[in-house]
Amino acid sequence: MRTDLCGNLRSSDIGREVVLCGWVDRRREHSEHLAFVDLRDRTGVMQCVVDGGRDLRSEYVVRISGTVQERHGGKSNENLATGEVELQDCTVEVLSVAEPPPFPLDERTDVDENIRLRYRYVDLRKPRLQHNLRVRAKVNSAIRIAMEEQDFVEIETPMLIASTPEGARDFVVPSRMKPGSFYALPQSPQIFKQLCMVGGIDRYYQIARCLRDEDLRADRQFEFMQLDAEASFVTQDDVYQFINHAVRGATEAVTGVRPGEIPSMTWHEAMERFGSDKPDTRFGMELTELTELFSATEFNAFKADCIKGIKVDGGAEYSRNQLDGLTDDVKSWGGKGLVWMKVEPDRSLNSPVAKFCSDAELQGLVDTLDAQPGDLLLIVADRRRTVQNLLGRLRIQIGRPPVTEGGLHFLWVTDFPLFELNEAGTPVPAHHPFTMPHEDDIALLETASGEGFLDIRSQAYDLVLNGWELGSGSVRIHRSDVQQQVLGLLGIGDEEAQAKFGFLLDAFKYGAPPHAGFAIGIDRLAALLAGEENIREVIAYPKTQTGADPMTQAPTPIDDGHLQELGLRVVPQD
Ligand code: AMO
Ligand code: AMP
Repeated sequence: MRTDLCGNLRSSDIGREVVLCGWVDRRREHSEHLAFVDLRDRTGVMQCVVDGGRDLRSEYVVRISGTVQERHGGKSNENLATGEVELQDCTVEVLSVAEPPPFPLDERTDVDENIRLRYRYVDLRKPRLQHNLRVRAKVNSAIRIAMEEQDFVEIETPMLIASTPEGARDFVVPSRMKPGSFYALPQSPQIFKQLCMVGGIDRYYQIARCLRDEDLRADRQFEFMQLDAEASFVTQDDVYQFINHAVRGATEAVTGVRPGEIPSMTWHEAMERFGSDKPDTRFGMELTELTELFSATEFNAFKADCIKGIKVDGGAEYSRNQLDGLTDDVKSWGGKGLVWMKVEPDRSLNSPVAKFCSDAELQGLVDTLDAQPGDLLLIVADRRRTVQNLLGRLRIQIGRPPVTEGGLHFLWVTDFPLFELNEAGTPVPAHHPFTMPHEDDIALLETASGEGFLDIRSQAYDLVLNGWELGSGSVRIHRSDVQQQVLGLLGIGDEEAQAKFGFLLDAFKYGAPPHAGFAIGIDRLAALLAGEENIREVIAYPKTQTGADPMTQAPTPIDDGHLQELGLRVVPQD
């Protein structure tokens, strides 16, 4: 139907007769008889000079033939790739008429998310989404190439399964054949990929759809995609190499630049220096240890297990209101308070609590934090984990650059703890219950109690990009005795273990190779590579914050006949 694409025509095409198809982006009257019609397709926009053209409206689908010419009077548009040329002597054929679009398609207008998603097929016409979906496709394609170069085999695992323990709520599907029973949709292919290792596949990968019923956020959807991988007879370092190859390939495919070596740091160091297990290393403002400095302090608020501070360059300009706001934030996150100190031109410290600190303490602060005139010091005292978390959040809130700035900072975070403690103080897996404890800490499994569980390290690691958790993985437990021991510590007794993962424990009895793996969130990688703050912008048909699809109206009720067939009855909620 066409000879060319709108966005590709240049002065080298002048004189050619071409046929273009697309949507009317804009129509401007030029004179009584002439109109400029901007024709848009997936590649861009081409200006067409059309006789009359009064009947052409925005978003009409048309086919225009004409001759490429230099723009009238040399009036080129530098902002447009096709800005030096236009189509003249045009013949226009209307292929589809269109109602006025529900919202303007320019990037300047801020359109309500619900409206955008309700008319996603119109939204998708925007250059931004056209670009983002192509970025995503490049990521997928580069990942496939990289994994296959490394001899990984693509294997598809089922969607209708028994529950996989990734820590979120399962989506479930009722069984018609067995009323009262349910399939779970996979939170990840975790167990199946481990079973592939027992099955001798050796190197597995999949671009896998995962489903988790959890609260949605900018970096979380119910449905998302992972590059999921697992390999046998490998070490943690081998896994880093496999994954490095894949993310570098994906980054190069999108940006044209292959990232260099990806640095790594332990979880412990990340928490101490950045107050986060996913540090955004695009900027400094690291947490500075001050506990020793205040070990003999008279200031009650600083009589604590741990004291740390951060320095905000130029932050002395903050108003009292802003500082009160930061203090309120810290309290709303569970802190007791926040001490701020402004550095005066003579490097003395100005703070309402300076009078409670000794001269040596104040001087020590200036020296330790290398405080310069005009800086602001923010200090928190509490239990160590609490101080890390609070200052880590403050650091991000104050210092984080916009997503499109500061480049791409990949980082491996290693040696995660094996357990976290839940509210009742009992250990729960920090990653998932199949994660191998750190070699040096296996003995602690026997002896640990209470907070001691937090000191047991695991062979689990995350890949972080600009402060986002991009992926996670671990060396797995491949021995049923160790697996049973860990499940036991998690309060999962033999009977429950057998009921939930009996098939996995059984499989380990038939010759399980040592194995390790990883999964990368493809939505997150694509979003960061496309310069987007929200993964919705790289997903063709995402859900809203409340988990709805305004276009198809999902989720919807089903009729009584269908319920009956499934052996279900809906109980009205108050
Ligand atoms: P994990 O649960 O850490 O590990 O998930 C791996 C990566 O998947 C992405 N991700 C999400 N992306 C969008 N929306 C969500 N709701 C969502 N949840 C997770 C993140 C995350 O880092 N089976 C293990 C991996 C393994 O051990 O091999 C797993 O799924 O980018
Ligand atoms: P208070 O002694 O509670 O009146 O607090 C005096 C000042 O110290 C206030 O500015 C509080 O915000 C701050 N503050 C109190 N507790 C802490 C804490 N644990 N860490 C940092 N600052 C604190």
